[in-house]
Amino acid sequence: MDTLKAIETRRSIRSYRPDPIEPEKMEAILKAMRLSPCACNRQDWKFFIVTDRKAIDLIAERTRFTPALVKSAPALLLAAGWRDKIMPSGHSWSTVDLTIAMTVGVLAATDLGLGTCIIGSHREEDVRKALDLPDDWQIPLIATLGYADKEPGPRPLKDFEEVAEIR
Ligand SMILES: Cc1cc2nc3c(=O)[nH]c(=O)nc-3n(C[C@H](O)[C@H](O)[C@H](O)COP(=O)(O)O)c2cc1C
Repeated sequence: MDTLKAIETRRSIRSYRPDPIEPEKMEAILKAMRLSPCACNRQDWKFFIVTDRKAIDLIAERTRFTPALVKSAPALLLAAGWRDKIMPSGHSWSTVDLTIAMTVGVLAATDLGLGTCIIGSHREEDVRKALDLPDDWQIPLIATLGYADKEPGPRPLKDFEEVAEIR
C-alpha cells in the first residue's frame, strides 16, 4: 500500500476483534512515529503502544465521550511530550509535534492492516497515572488500535472546492 492509498483508506474504527497485534507490527508503528518531523528536531517525546488491560481500562473509565470504544480496543497508541514552548505562530510545539506523530502512527497502522480511532476525549492525568508518567508530560491525543471488526459506513465530506484551493 502506498502513502496515498493509506490516506484514502484510513477510517476511524470503532469496533475491534479481540485478536492480539503482532509485536513486529507494533514495533513498525512506533518506528514510523520516531521518524516524524518535529520542531527544531527536539524529539522531546516518547511513543507507546499499551496492551496492558488494567491500564487500558483505567484510561477508558474516565474518557469523556467514548469510554466503551477505548475499553473495547486491544491496544492504545499514544504520544507523550514535555518541555513545551509556544512557536512564533502562537501554537504549542508539543501539541503540534505530537499530533503529527500520531498522524504518522495512524497511517502506518493503516498500511499494516490495522484500524485506529483518534481520541481527544481522554483525561490526560488518567493516562499519566495509568502509565506512571511524570506530571509535566502532555498527551494531547490517544488512539485505539486493533483489527477492525466492522468497517464504518460512508462518511460525509465537504466538497473539495469548499475546503481546498490552489492559489
Ligand atoms: C482531534 C480528534 C479527536 C477525536 N476524538 C474522538 C473521540 O473522542 N471519540 C471518537 O469516537 N472519535 C474521535 N475522533 C474521530 C473523529 O470523530 C473522526 O476522525 C471523524 O468523524 C472523521 O471520520 P474518519 O476518521 O472515519 O474519517 C477524533 C478525531 C480527531 C482528529
